[in-house]
Amino acid sequence: MATEKVYIYKAYERFWHWTQAFLVLFLALTGFEIHGSLNLFGFETAVTLHNNAAWAFIILTIFTIFWHFTTGEWRQYLPTTKNLKAQAEYYIFGIFRNAPHPTRKTTLSKLNPLQRLVYLSLKILIFPVMIISGLAYMYFRYVKDGEVVSLGIRSLERVALAHTLGAFILVAFVIVHLYLITTGHTISSNLKAMLTGWEELETDETETHDINTAKDTLGQKHNHPEKPETL
Ligand code: HEM
Repeated sequence: MATEKVYIYKAYERFWHWTQAFLVLFLALTGFEIHGSLNLFGFETAVTLHNNAAWAFIILTIFTIFWHFTTGEWRQYLPTTKNLKAQAEYYIFGIFRNAPHPTRKTTLSKLNPLQRLVYLSLKILIFPVMIISGLAYMYFRYVKDGEVVSLGIRSLERVALAHTLGAFILVAFVIVHLYLITTGHTISSNLKAMLTGWEELETDETETHDINTAKDTLGQKHNHPEKPETL
């Protein structure tokens, strides 16, 4: 199989990915200390650290939404059922029989159908739930001009439930994600790609099982992987 080095993850994308990874891990550690499952920083410090990391996460999310729309990269996350079953079967059976990957990665379609579905759910469901429930926690009752102001939520029970459930889902995602990044072309190829931006990809056009064509994922300007974009 012929391969070619392709610039697949742009600079901002890698910055966002690793900052988000660090923040989610840090929020999980401090959050589960607040929850009472861990003892690392001491409760009060954990609360301060969790709040600061949460603001950093919110700011990163705002910049990243902007990046997704200005670059057109949001199209990478459009869900598709094409090859979805094949991809799931590959992870359950094929991978243990050395079967070929059912989808081919390109700059225009770098996520397989399962990744599209999972990452989209994180973006439109899990992260919003974490941010909204987290902010509800922060402003449930807060002091403004020396007076206690309330958000008007009667109880924190549902907020706590949603936030903790989201935290468990995120931890489960991180564990599965860590395993799946080892299942690329070689054991470290996905990791190297997210560190350097460059990845060795199959080029044999006759083997193409792309889930989308160039036209229906990203625009023309992304069609020249040999000319890396800096953003
Ligand atoms: C930007 C998003 C987030 C905000 C605004 C936020 C905010 C908060 C706040 C204010 C608390 C309560 C602290 C207290 O009781 O004083 C809390 C608790 C917690 N957070 Fe977050 N958080 C966010 C993201 C996360 C993430 C990503 C995770 C885990 C991956 C997480 C896990 C937890 C856990 C487990 C608790 C304890 C819940 C409980 O026992 O009721 N948080 N969060």
